[in-house]
Amino acid sequence: MTYLANPARYDATSDHAMEYRRCGNSGLKLPAISLGLWHNFGGVDVFENYRQILRTAFDHGITHFDLANNYGPPPGSAEENFGIIFKKDFLPYRDELVISSKAGYLMWAGPYGEWGSRKYLISSCDQSLKRMGLDYVDIFYSHRPDPNTPLEETMGALDSLVRQGKALYVGISNYSATESAKALEILKRLGTPCLIHQPKYSMLERWSEKKLLDLLGIEGVGCIPFSPLAQGLLTNKYLKGIPSDSRAAIPNGFLPPSQITPELIQKLEKLNVIALERGQTLAQMALAWLLKDQRVTSVLIGASKVSQLLDSLECLKNKNFSEEELGRIEGILE
Ligand SMILES: NC(=O)c1ccc[n+]([C@@H]2O[C@H](COP(=O)([O-])OP(=O)(O)OC[C@H]3O[C@@H](n4cnc5c(N)ncnc54)[C@H](OP(=O)(O)O)[C@@H]3O)[C@@H](O)[C@H]2O)c1
Repeated sequence: MTYLANPARYDATSDHAMEYRRCGNSGLKLPAISLGLWHNFGGVDVFENYRQILRTAFDHGITHFDLANNYGPPPGSAEENFGIIFKKDFLPYRDELVISSKAGYLMWAGPYGEWGSRKYLISSCDQSLKRMGLDYVDIFYSHRPDPNTPLEETMGALDSLVRQGKALYVGISNYSATESAKALEILKRLGTPCLIHQPKYSMLERWSEKKLLDLLGIEGVGCIPFSPLAQGLLTNKYLKGIPSDSRAAIPNGFLPPSQITPELIQKLEKLNVIALERGQTLAQMALAWLLKDQRVTSVLIGASKVSQLLDSLECLKNKNFSEEELGRIEGILE
């Protein structure tokens, strides 16, 4: 059936109103919750399931979908699948969408298929546009710093992509605070300011709190934490063991079951108690905890089911934490 987006998706008075936050000092606003297609949208996944996830997201005001050249498996298939759904469902809504892609990790064989050379970034962006059937992406990222390519070259390639009309904005991901400071400086000089940084950041992964967030705040660059639920650990799903349909049960996945230690479960149980007292699920509290910081533009979640997405969206109803709650959470996390 033809998809017609929910006419109330931007209704600020609705019970489920999305919040839009300005991305750093830029003119671009992002939804407080964005959806990533790293898992669950590849060639191994079920078309009707991920199509419903994308539709439900947009119907609830999620205007930002995040991809990368290598998302799948197999690599490239998430962009291809997104392209198919884009054409079927979202074509009339292109100007309401912020679509991002990235290059940095291994994508094709030979010396030009990964890292940060101009050769790789520009050809990879061309490939991503073809796979998705797009004329341009809204944001193009350098997916990781490359110790063997001059930063000027990598940032110069991002700047060229904007000048060629293939990307509207650029971002960096997985860059340390020191590397970010240098990258931001180069991009500013080139006249293509960095829009956004995408770090791994959650209650269980807090490196970006040391220096990065301060830098981004001062420089007016947005921040979109990825894996804000620590790939599902910060939900109630692992409290009673490893469900067979979970990411930790996937062979050779990015969430090895060895990470789910008794000590971690103890922490999660304690966090879950606070979440329940707040009238939230653990997932909702974990997302709200990140969004309490206004330097966080959006949290970049994943979902393997529509029900998970709907659960996560509810975090917007309570993003306030008392000093007492914050203190108790710190006590558990340290
Ligand atoms: N820049 C980078 O290097 C980088 C790296 C990684 C990710 N990312 C981006 O960040 C996005 C999100 O990453 P992520 O998928 O790791 O995020 P996440 O939100 O931390 O984890 C998502 C996973 O948690 C589980 N889940 C989500 N909501 C749930 C709920 N309410 N209840 C129970 N379980 C729930 C699902 O896993 P199950 O399969 O177990 O159901 C889901 O696939 C990616 O799609 C990608 O766009 C970027």
